[in-house]
Amino acid sequence: MVFTVEVSAFAHVPLDAAVAYVADFRNAPEWQRGLTAVQVDGPFPLSRAVVEVRRFLGRRIEAPGELIAWDADTGFTVRGHSGPLRVESRYGFASEADGTRITLHLTMAGRGVARLAEPLLRHSITGELRAAFQRLGSILNGQQMPVISPAVNNPAGRQGRRDPQRQTGTSAIWRRLGTAAAGLAAARLAVRMTQSPDDLQGKAALVTGASRGLGLLIARELAARGCRLALCARTVADLDRAARDLRDSGATVVTMACDISDQAQAEDFVRYACEQLGSADILVNNAGAIRVGPLRAMTPADFDEALGVMFWGTVYTTLATLKYMRDQHDGSIVNIASIGGRIGVPHLLPYTCAKFAVVGFSEGLRTEVADDGIRVTTVLPSLLRTGSHIRAGYKGDPAREFTWFAVGSSVPVVSMDAERAARRIVAAMRRGRAELILPSPAIVATWLHGLSPAAMGTALRYVNRLLPQSADGTAASDNAAVGGLAIQEQLESRLLRRATRLNDEAARRFNQLGGQ
Ligand SMILES: NC(=O)c1ccc[n+]([C@@H]2O[C@H](COP(=O)([O-])OP(=O)(O)OC[C@H]3O[C@@H](n4cnc5c(N)ncnc54)[C@H](OP(=O)(O)O)[C@@H]3O)[C@@H](O)[C@H]2O)c1
Repeated sequence: MVFTVEVSAFAHVPLDAAVAYVADFRNAPEWQRGLTAVQVDGPFPLSRAVVEVRRFLGRRIEAPGELIAWDADTGFTVRGHSGPLRVESRYGFASEADGTRITLHLTMAGRGVARLAEPLLRHSITGELRAAFQRLGSILNGQQMPVISPAVNNPAGRQGRRDPQRQTGTSAIWRRLGTAAAGLAAARLAVRMTQSPDDLQGKAALVTGASRGLGLLIARELAARGCRLALCARTVADLDRAARDLRDSGATVVTMACDISDQAQAEDFVRYACEQLGSADILVNNAGAIRVGPLRAMTPADFDEALGVMFWGTVYTTLATLKYMRDQHDGSIVNIASIGGRIGVPHLLPYTCAKFAVVGFSEGLRTEVADDGIRVTTVLPSLLRTGSHIRAGYKGDPAREFTWFAVGSSVPVVSMDAERAARRIVAAMRRGRAELILPSPAIVATWLHGLSPAAMGTALRYVNRLLPQSADGTAASDNAAVGGLAIQEQLESRLLRRATRLNDEAARRFNQLGGQ
């Protein structure tokens, strides 16, 4: 929730006198009977200022703000926060023919209860500020200057304590808001169920690995809800096709071909996206690459590559995006991990290591950025029918590895329709959910794993015995990964084609065939 209120007053006084009066905290009680008191510590011109918004939902909260911009001729800006609310007050002063116009542009950002109470907050704050500015205008026009003595108006001195009489009105407002918010919270489920697609309208969404598969589907889902998109992947032709597809449906799309495992390229992507779209409201870390094969066929380079794109890529884009989200005190980050990030899966070790790292990062990130108004959702799918079986790399015994993986990721119930997954992911993001595990059998698996990691380990040991074993004599370093498409073309098995029909169909629809 972010909203702005603008109020202004005109006073028949010179600009410097208006600035001096408004900026001096000792005058605040005289005209500000509302929510905000600007307190200035230090000789004029300002060296530091404090914004207080007190007693939110009955709690006494006092948060020092900081003066973030000062211009003696035009005004000053103070930023502070109070519990779930972040408040920025921009005071502007403009000389007019016979006096000064004083404007306050207040931006409040919040989430949770504050978001639900937005209409009430907006209404009350607007009313309070209008009244305060009327008082300000009449005080200045009545020439009740210079400043009023601190001993009379601020008995607590310059330490920020305000007259308790003055607080009564403020706390009553917050109490009323609290009651209303509690009522609204009860209706939260209904709000969730009826969320309008418009809540994402105009948001700037960055999606990595969006040229095909799940990333493309998430981009489509976001575009359908009115988001403007910035997409990246390494392969220009795939990216162009994806962008064309999205633009044809009316979306605003910018793209950059880049490798997000490279820090500079990942940061360039975020910078470019923010320049083009003007902000970064949503980041979906989706880019990934699967390498299937037994551990004995894997080299350190396989682990390095997996960590590069899935872990480091996620870290680089997230750190680069956070500063934009922190500035606006709002944002959603979705990290596409995997069930392999919770349960170690045989024949997918580099992948599973990278996904474990993503899950750790994502969960810790959520706790650290929550107070900045940023929501983080960790997604742990098991098998999705994205068609990426033909883009994965296979090592050890490539044909047999391809067979189990392609069949497994095509079987209904075990695997999930990717379009449905994309819808569920965007819905989870809109609700600010911490975690989404897809589909239901994966929830059971994580539950069993949590209950008894040893039993789950034993079960997976039997699964591992069923998986193909690579020839003992083959050194891992001699064992280059073979692409799924090449294996599929060689195998030419009608039975296999039938077994993988659903995922082959997904490959065609979700841009996996490289324009074929
Ligand atoms: N499919 C599943 O069953 C499944 C299950 C669980 C989790 N997931 C996760 O879901 C995500 C998407 O999977 P998917 O099946 O849709 O995969 P996919 O079809 O292979 O798509 C991967 C995307 O990532 C891009 N990419 C790969 N490396 C990149 C890099 N270094 N820099 C930038 N972009 C890169 C690819 O484009 P370029 O190759 O052109 O760069 C492509 O756009 C992955 O994180 C995956 O691990 C998938």
